[in-house]
Amino acid sequence: MRGIKILGTGVYTPDVKITNHDLSKIMETDNEWIVSRTGISSRNYSKDKSNHYMAVEASKSAIENAGVKAEDIDLVIASSCSTEYFYPNLASLVQGGIGAVNAAVVEVNTACTGFISAVDIASRYLMDDDYKTVLVVASERLAPHVDFEDRASCILFGDGAGAAVITKSDKPMYSYLSGKADNFEALYRHKNISHNCPYVDEKDETTSTAAFDTDKKLQYLQMDGKGVYKFAVDAMATAVEKTLAKAGLIKDDIDLVIPHQANIRIIQSATKALGIPQEKVFVNIGEHANTSSACIPTCLDDLNKDGRIKEGMKICLVGFGAGLTSGAIVFEQ
Ligand code: COA
Repeated sequence: MRGIKILGTGVYTPDVKITNHDLSKIMETDNEWIVSRTGISSRNYSKDKSNHYMAVEASKSAIENAGVKAEDIDLVIASSCSTEYFYPNLASLVQGGIGAVNAAVVEVNTACTGFISAVDIASRYLMDDDYKTVLVVASERLAPHVDFEDRASCILFGDGAGAAVITKSDKPMYSYLSGKADNFEALYRHKNISHNCPYVDEKDETTSTAAFDTDKKLQYLQMDGKGVYKFAVDAMATAVEKTLAKAGLIKDDIDLVIPHQANIRIIQSATKALGIPQEKVFVNIGEHANTSSACIPTCLDDLNKDGRIKEGMKICLVGFGAGLTSGAIVFEQ
């Protein structure tokens, strides 16, 4: 049987806070529009600290909160869609950065669903006696990915990292993960790979033209906002329903829902469709915006530090992201 228990959590929130009012000085937007359409008031950007720096800091904080030593970590699973290296992978950089000398490493990129995928993977490793303590960390530095001339997308995102140390539990955990890549162009950022190999074309004919272009704009995150919105509401509701069905639970059994923080309206529509009261749904999008896979561990840390994660609680994590991916986890703490 799979089961997880959160031993500790940590975050790293970068130092530059940018409010909607700040953004309205550099583009045609205003606080009222952003708050009413998204629920976001401000976001933080990492001015000069790398993605892996943020991941390491969040991880150190989670390890301290868990009361374990870096040497106790058997596995580091790191999630990101905004790493700065093709290789080494982010989990290796974290493993070295925190001194987890006994840990294996795995990197995951299912974009904003990444923390859910990573916890799902962790729970499966934890069924093996070789792995007792797993660090799951998600870190995203998205400010350099977004186009500050595209007011519909750049306002949505922020930077940050969140981490959790988890161990095996004898209380069952259930999950549902999904992919729908036929619509991947609704949200993507292409890696522009320049090279000097004379035998290889710059443009490869198997990559879609939309996704591989020399236009400078296509270096940035590309998003069909309405398409993603529609997908998200449906995908989050479906993921929760499928996970509850696997668990043999009903919505009233769930004490706390921690959704991916993309847009307050998406969260409210999906949870209302499921009939889950808003008091059970945790939201911190106002201050953090969408930090992709770092959203859910950042919420977990807020709740943990407030003493709101209690033994025996049934917690549901649910998210969606580029891919298009989606998923949910239900576990008892
Ligand atoms: N400030 C002011 N006006 C803006 C604006 C901004 N930042 N961004 C867009 N607008 C304008 C549009 O140009 C449009 O003007 P028009 O009617 O004159 O053409 C108007 O506001 C309405 O735009 P629309 O796209 O219909 O807004 P919306 O209600 O769909 O909200 C999003 C746009 C992007 C906030 C919303 O679609 C969304 O959140 N989608 C999901 C995106 C997401 O979550 N991505 C990450 C997934 S992990």
